[in-house]
Amino acid sequence: MMSRIPIIKVPTKKKHLFLVCNWKMYPKTLKEARALIALLSVAAKRLAHVTIVVCPPALFLPLFSLRSQRVRFGAQSIDGDVVGSKTGEISGAQVASVGGEYTLVGHAERRARGETDYDVGAKVFTALSVGLTPIVCVGESKRDARGEYIDVLKEQVRSALAPVPNHLRSKVLIAYEPVYAIGAAHPPSVSEIHHALLVIKKVLHDEYGASIGRVVPLLYGGAVDARSVREIALSIPELSGFLVGRASVHREALQALLTALQ
Ligand code: PGA
Repeated sequence: MMSRIPIIKVPTKKKHLFLVCNWKMYPKTLKEARALIALLSVAAKRLAHVTIVVCPPALFLPLFSLRSQRVRFGAQSIDGDVVGSKTGEISGAQVASVGGEYTLVGHAERRARGETDYDVGAKVFTALSVGLTPIVCVGESKRDARGEYIDVLKEQVRSALAPVPNHLRSKVLIAYEPVYAIGAAHPPSVSEIHHALLVIKKVLHDEYGASIGRVVPLLYGGAVDARSVREIALSIPELSGFLVGRASVHREALQALLTALQ
């Protein structure tokens, strides 16, 4: 007699993802910003597998009180020093003291304004020393046929983590954001993104050991929207989330993005 084939229930648990919303200098008013957080908070209930991190303009501080289990807050940049007479800057300790948990570091728009690899390393160190999770942005400004962009990526990762003691290196997130994709109509191909993430993973593995290479979450950013997010998420096993600009700050685009992530 034929034995019955047991029915095995495959768990349908979705992979955990970060959705980091980089609002840059938007929206225009605190009222609009509150409305976006309200939208995110409702969506977060359906997105149990997603941790949403909002990095609003620093002045929109009252938003931080809307922090919840799955909608967290961060800064768009911090200073490399913990204190100092630096007009216009904010310190990591100040971000932490109002409930911020993350900070972007080395975003291409900051690097374009003079932030160096050395500055990025100092900021990563400072962020970790005050208990913030740095989201380190790396990315080449062009993809050359000879593969020089690989060296750019390696150098950016190495210099960001060089000042950090090894036991804290596992606490960073790295966002791959090729400069030419930021604000562009489309992201690069999935295979180009995948290749860059593998390069970053290999640097982490080779420089700091297998466990750092395994645990540091790698995000992708640059022209992510509702049309591209699913394909990128499903095709790249090493991907742990997204850093999103425009599509995180325009209501309809954000709504569509959140639906696509379900
Ligand atoms: P974008 O920006 O999504 O508008 O391309 C991404 C970023 O600058 O982080």
